[in-house]
Amino acid sequence: MRANRQRSLAQAMRHFLKLLALTKDELTHLLSESARLKAARQQGTETPTLAGRIITLIFEKPSLRTRVSFETAITHLGGTFLFLPGNEVGLGWRETLADFGRTMSQYVDAMVLRVFHQSTLNELARWSSVPIINGLSDEAHPCQALADLLTIQECFGEVKGKTIVFVGDGNNVAKSLSVGCTKLGAKFVLASPPGYGFDEGFLEEFRHSTGGATLEMLNDPIAAVRQADVIYSDVFTSMGQEAEREERLARFAAFQVNGALLAKAPKHVKVLHCLPAHRGEEITDEVMDGPHCVAFQQAGNRLHAQKAVLEWLLKR
Ligand code: CP
Ligand code: NVA
Repeated sequence: MRANRQRSLAQAMRHFLKLLALTKDELTHLLSESARLKAARQQGTETPTLAGRIITLIFEKPSLRTRVSFETAITHLGGTFLFLPGNEVGLGWRETLADFGRTMSQYVDAMVLRVFHQSTLNELARWSSVPIINGLSDEAHPCQALADLLTIQECFGEVKGKTIVFVGDGNNVAKSLSVGCTKLGAKFVLASPPGYGFDEGFLEEFRHSTGGATLEMLNDPIAAVRQADVIYSDVFTSMGQEAEREERLARFAAFQVNGALLAKAPKHVKVLHCLPAHRGEEITDEVMDGPHCVAFQQAGNRLHAQKAVLEWLLKR
């Protein structure tokens, strides 16, 4: 009885698991808040909206940007962070996710998790009475996508009407970005080798969440980038897929973002990469270090976008 009551309380809680769950208005709000918080940081007018709040980061996979930008964001906003390696807390194997979620909810105000399986987040969100933030799963990377959208907005004034071409694997980063771009009125194109496009399960969720919007999936990177305002690159082998690395390197060889591919795109094109970059694999030094690339501005925007998410979930 008590467990059921607690579970229904947990279900009413707002989480940040996938952009699929956000309305266009919520996404627009988060984006404008990200820009406001970036300006506030630059002008020294930030306020400690997370004072007295404790946010824990529980990571099953390595991270540089997500961990450091969350820890920095929480510190800037006056909160406290607590980092827990996933293997030390035994997420999902030392005790059930239901018991883990209900226990952690007694101590902390929010949890940021980086997990192998989206199902871990979904199950925790059923039981946690504090917000759960997806810091990357096999299916989604919504914090990254929000920073990507902020970067595109900074580059072009708005996201609406732009064409974003993701060259590579139809992975977690591509999925979240496709949803964000589409909800904000941009055109999203995925250029990937046959068999590495978006899966039907995701496409079904995408159609449902965007009211039947469409995206383009091509197998020819050159044809795809001819129309690009943005070319987006990510690793060919995501964390958890290491056993497929050799096969993927071969299958994705024509999908490297290099000078020759860039030459086929419009002159104003911007290149984004979520990082870490495997230079010489999915992207070359020439492009990473060239004038079109805004990957470090993009990495910086993780900080501001995540502040917006934290405030949206936690501000009193
Ligand atoms: N882009 C990104 O999430 O980087 P990390 O894996 O270093 O956190
Ligand atoms: N697609 C990559 C993104 C890393 C930030 C991965 O999941 O490993």
